[in-house]
Amino acid sequence: MRSEETKLNFPLLPCVLAGMKRVHEGMTSPEDYRRQDWRIVHDIPMVCAFSYHWERIDNFQSRPDDLVIATYPKSGTTWISEIVDMILNDGDPDKCKRDAVFNKVPMLEFAAPGKMPPGTEKLAKTSSPRLVKTHLPVQLLPMSFWENGCKMIYVARNAKDVAVSFYHFDLMNQLHPEPGTWEQYVEKYMAGRVAYGSWYDHVKGWWEKRKDHPILYLLYEDMKEDPKREIRKVMHFLGKDLKEEVLDRIVYHTSFEMMKENPATNYTMVPNDVMDQSISPFMRKGIAGDWKNHFTVAQNETFNEDYERKMAGTTLQFRTEI
Ligand SMILES: *[C@@H]1O[C@H](CO)[C@@H](O)[C@H](O)[C@H]1NC(C)=O
Ligand SMILES: *[C@@H]1O[C@H](CO)[C@@H](O)[C@H](O)[C@H]1NC(C)=O
Repeated sequence: MRSEETKLNFPLLPCVLAGMKRVHEGMTSPEDYRRQDWRIVHDIPMVCAFSYHWERIDNFQSRPDDLVIATYPKSGTTWISEIVDMILNDGDPDKCKRDAVFNKVPMLEFAAPGKMPPGTEKLAKTSSPRLVKTHLPVQLLPMSFWENGCKMIYVARNAKDVAVSFYHFDLMNQLHPEPGTWEQYVEKYMAGRVAYGSWYDHVKGWWEKRKDHPILYLLYEDMKEDPKREIRKVMHFLGKDLKEEVLDRIVYHTSFEMMKENPATNYTMVPNDVMDQSISPFMRKGIAGDWKNHFTVAQNETFNEDYERKMAGTTLQFRTEI
């Protein structure tokens, strides 16, 4: 416990020093951030590779017609991104295969110096209207998005399924530190010692913000239960009007089974020294309730007690199965 905290409070010397020196020399190598521990950015644990030159995020210039897609990791980001792109392209699956989802909807804070172009650079080259993906907690979103009154869609997923999915993601994602055992991981997750910090603060923070900003707040479990109903909500939010048959087509092409076999959405184009899908596929299960296959009875109880404390006083309610 103690050494864990020390690590977080004193951001990783190898990562920072090696990284900064080489950034100045213009030759940061992926070995500087591969499997490194989180680095604290504005009090939030951040993926080491993303933490360089954070002023690029703080000073990011939005455009009034940007649409922000925000989520805590592993909460249906790729799913909602593809749904939005399908709606904007009138349900045309071929148009939506024009490029990989992570190029159609660039991730604002993404960076892998010396390996892949940063999100901010991609976004600067993207023509309007842009779709902007982010996992940032609400207080870290660049000010410019609030000033421009940009529309935003937030998707939240129940804490237990996110924990299971995030654990598998840490196992395969070489930009993240190794997660340790599941037992250790649950502790870290509850304490917010994972990328982007506390799930509890994240979902509550965005929930509060919707009161004074145009944010469509969706729940993953609702999307699973009745995708057409939720897709219709997104359509209205985007000011579109599509025929029933187009909506049905969008439901079909954005099902888990279709997206898992779609090279534009299954992350097959990400190099396997960044995400090793032989360890765990990016599109893993896509269900509600998988946590029951991983939580022990004792973990379930401890988690629930802690959950009650952290979520007391919010009107936000989740279902852990449907
Ligand atoms: C992604 O989809 C392609 C095309 O269907 C398939 O060949 C590939 O195995 C899939 N990749 C993963 C990691 O599932
Ligand atoms: C988890 O714990 C709650 C009580 O906190 C209990 O009602 C529920 O049945 C438990 N579920 C499983 C799958 O263990």
